[in-house]
Amino acid sequence: MTPAPDGYRTIEVPEARKGELLAVDRLAFAFSPDPEVDDEVPLTLDWTRTMALEGTGGALAGVHASYPFALPVPGGTVPCSGLTWVGVRPDHRRRGLLGSMIETHFERSGARGEPVSALFAAEAPIYGRFGYGQAAENLRLTIARGAALRDVSGSADLDLRLESADAAAHSALVHAVHGAAGAGRPGWIERNTDALRARHFADPRPWRDGAEQLRIVTVRAGDQVRGYALFRRKEDWADGRPNGKVRIAEVAALDAAATHRLWSFLLDLDLTTTVKSPMLAVDDALMQLLVDVRVDNAVIDDNLWVRLLDLPVALGARRYAAPTDVVLEVTDARLPANAGRWRVRTGTSGAADGGFGYDAEVSATSDPADLTVDVRELGAAYLGGRSLAAMAGAGLVVEHRAGALLSASAAFGWPVAPLCTWGF
Ligand SMILES: CC(C)(COP(=O)(O)OP(=O)(O)OC[C@H]1O[C@@H](n2cnc3c(N)ncnc32)[C@H](O)[C@@H]1OP(=O)(O)O)[C@@H](O)C(=O)NCCC(=O)NCCS
Repeated sequence: MTPAPDGYRTIEVPEARKGELLAVDRLAFAFSPDPEVDDEVPLTLDWTRTMALEGTGGALAGVHASYPFALPVPGGTVPCSGLTWVGVRPDHRRRGLLGSMIETHFERSGARGEPVSALFAAEAPIYGRFGYGQAAENLRLTIARGAALRDVSGSADLDLRLESADAAAHSALVHAVHGAAGAGRPGWIERNTDALRARHFADPRPWRDGAEQLRIVTVRAGDQVRGYALFRRKEDWADGRPNGKVRIAEVAALDAAATHRLWSFLLDLDLTTTVKSPMLAVDDALMQLLVDVRVDNAVIDDNLWVRLLDLPVALGARRYAAPTDVVLEVTDARLPANAGRWRVRTGTSGAADGGFGYDAEVSATSDPADLTVDVRELGAAYLGGRSLAAMAGAGLVVEHRAGALLSASAAFGWPVAPLCTWGF
């Protein structure tokens, strides 16, 4: 096991120490226990993947855990260790505990045969130093009620049903539609355990910030569900006039008509004035549907961060949008097995099996390098949402053979922007 900083010991956390783990989490994230939250929100941890650093005296000082995900990548999926529950007690911070926990995470993920790790960062500057690249971005829009949408035929024929969201009644349909709606979109991780699916519906009053309970609207063609949105409204009045807000947690739909029907409903709820979108891909259908694309309030945030743990396996697990043959000189300060020269040469076109893109062979080589790149930038490019050429503009990728940068950028890109719809 990874050596811990002086005065600490790396341990697996058994379920019997759940209370201590939760106490570290609360201290790190600054919240107090609340019986209503604790009763309603299921714990999603896998105890075989939950770790801590224990200080002298036996108290937990830092914790982390991971989920075993299948990460959708361009043209396929790859086993992925989803890093989560990272927290260090404020009175133990900046002594290297996170650095040690990350090493443990890499080592254990690698030993389980997970060539990639992914995470959502609480603060964006934390994880780049560990070789995580910012691989997906999300938009959050605040849209005025009544924003017009371009027409989509068939939208008006779909039925709507509005209900209070309830895990027992809706979890299966949400899981099925969510999975189908995201087919082909890199990063679209599914909630793959009962606990994660149940937690998606957890709605304790302290989390509502004064808004109503969680609602679900489904669109249907006959008895077939074609899409859903999870959302809530917050009642508000300004000088006697309605000023309610709509906050949307997730929208997923199987086709354009269902997408249009859902947004037509969400953008025109009585007594509301503004609608806050959930995390949307930068190429989300809503951006194509809005008649007035000048949204006053649009925020772009980092979504998934990706770390390549086993570079040749990870790069070989995705497809490439264009043929290429490039030698990458890779630096990796933390996982030296990834460092060195790698040839990425595309072969068979996926069209042979009805798919899109090209498979690639990734092999160590002593040929001269075409591009120099750190593993962090390769992680950023991995889901096809970040251009190697754009990173070269910032000096993060260096070209040694004319033409290699554009060739690699076209190959690593992908026509569908990456997104994970839920934070973990
Ligand atoms: C973020 C957190 C886990 C860092 O733990 P830590 O044990 O203090 O981190 P380390 O001492 O191992 O720091 C490693 C490096 O990361 C840097 N770093 C740590 N947290 C950082 C932050 N929030 N922003 C920028 N840099 C940070 C450190 O300065 C250090 O840099 P160095 O190697 O150049 O000296 C801890 O401060 C914490 O629990 N914060 C609140 C909860 C949280 O944000 N968790 C992360 C959830 S994704």
